[in-house]
Amino acid sequence: MKLSVIGVGYLGAVHAASMASLGFEVVGVDVDHAKLDALRAGKAPFYEPGFDELLAEVMPTGRLTWTDDYAAIADADVHFVCVGTPQRRGSHSADLRYVWAAVESMIPHLRPDSVVAGKSTVPVGTAAEIAERLGQSDGPVVVWNPEFLREGFAVADTLHPDRIVVGVPEGPDGLRAEQVMREVYAAQIAEGIPFLVTDRPTAELVKVAANAFLATKISFINAMAEVCEATGADVVTLADAIGHDARIGRKFLGAGVGFGGGCLPKDIRAFSARAGELGVDQALTFLRQVDDINSRRRDRAVETARELVGGSFRGRRVCVLGAAFKPDSDDVRDSPALDIAARIHNEGGEVVVHDPKALVNAESRFPALTYEPELAAALAGAEVVLVLTEWRDYRELDPLAVADVVAAPRILDGRNVLDAAAWQAAGWSFRGMGRAHG
Ligand code: UGA
Repeated sequence: MKLSVIGVGYLGAVHAASMASLGFEVVGVDVDHAKLDALRAGKAPFYEPGFDELLAEVMPTGRLTWTDDYAAIADADVHFVCVGTPQRRGSHSADLRYVWAAVESMIPHLRPDSVVAGKSTVPVGTAAEIAERLGQSDGPVVVWNPEFLREGFAVADTLHPDRIVVGVPEGPDGLRAEQVMREVYAAQIAEGIPFLVTDRPTAELVKVAANAFLATKISFINAMAEVCEATGADVVTLADAIGHDARIGRKFLGAGVGFGGGCLPKDIRAFSARAGELGVDQALTFLRQVDDINSRRRDRAVETARELVGGSFRGRRVCVLGAAFKPDSDDVRDSPALDIAARIHNEGGEVVVHDPKALVNAESRFPALTYEPELAAALAGAEVVLVLTEWRDYRELDPLAVADVVAAPRILDGRNVLDAAAWQAAGWSFRGMGRAHG
């Protein structure tokens, strides 16, 4: 079986290489030549642990090719649509321009017996619209096969996902497409990974519902952090205690500067916007609160850092540790860390940002900030240190050694990952997010 993958970003590139590693012949198509050139050279165009190794394994097999020529998809049996669906400028809804551009470019090359499998996160109803555009009866069958991979774990999540969801249309076409998708995912099915067949709207909704739930869980604990701050209680202990209840679970109860990235923030907004179009906006009003709680955490981090330096950032040297929206990624889209750094810069702080992998992306987004690739140099002379992305390098910092290089030992642990007692014992003014502090 031959597969095509349209759009070779974090999702598509990893999907293409993973499927090639399982033995399929795969062609990855994109209009971005820089990405294609890197991939052809066997280099990941973004930082993703394990991806370079995967490329090194599959590129020599000849089963994986990268091109900007849509004609190359003509003999593929399944076409995975993996293009981005960012937030529309000036609105909360999803911008589907890349989906439609991909569909239009695919049309001349699609065999009627092929399957188009959408993976991009889209507003519910998009699959049906694509099917309409492709011609319901004589066009290829459109199925929805949402992707749940996390950046930083993209390879493992693609090869061994928690579940596979495939939304198919009713009737014989749907049954045939289901069979094709079962062949595509035969290795995962053999591993015992749940394979759920649904209708298309359910499959589209599964994705946004999952991300909405995750965002809500994070904002729930961050709301508790606000209450903890008002009472002197400790949100980390609280999360540990409620997390022992198996119905609640400890995962995604990490209180801190909140969620960012290219998915959770824009997905909850697009989901609310879509609910409004469908006349059920009240059902998702709470997602506005989820978003608001999340952005208040960034305000709180700025306030706490300002307090630590005595009320004003003007002329103060501020060391920001972390630019990526989470560790093990170089993605800075809607990154809480960079947003906080930029706000402090705008208040007159002399901000120096360090990140193990995301400095190039950060600099292209916020050129006005100062970026320092050496951790020790970033810390040197700092009047306050802010840990805003929980990279291992930061979690393992030695409070005594760092105290020797900064100008003043003051630290905000924006991710609640440091041992507060150890830092305080080393003489630091230590603040967390929603934590009792000394
Ligand atoms: C998220 C979902 O977790 C994936 O399942 C989904 O496939 C993906 O979006 C997507 O839609 O493509 P990702 O954006 O890679 O994955 O990142 P997450 O690990 O979900 O983290 C999102 C944000 O939440 C990060 O900024 C992280 O720092 C923050 N977070 C996470 C917290 O603030 N607290 C937590 O306890 C967990």
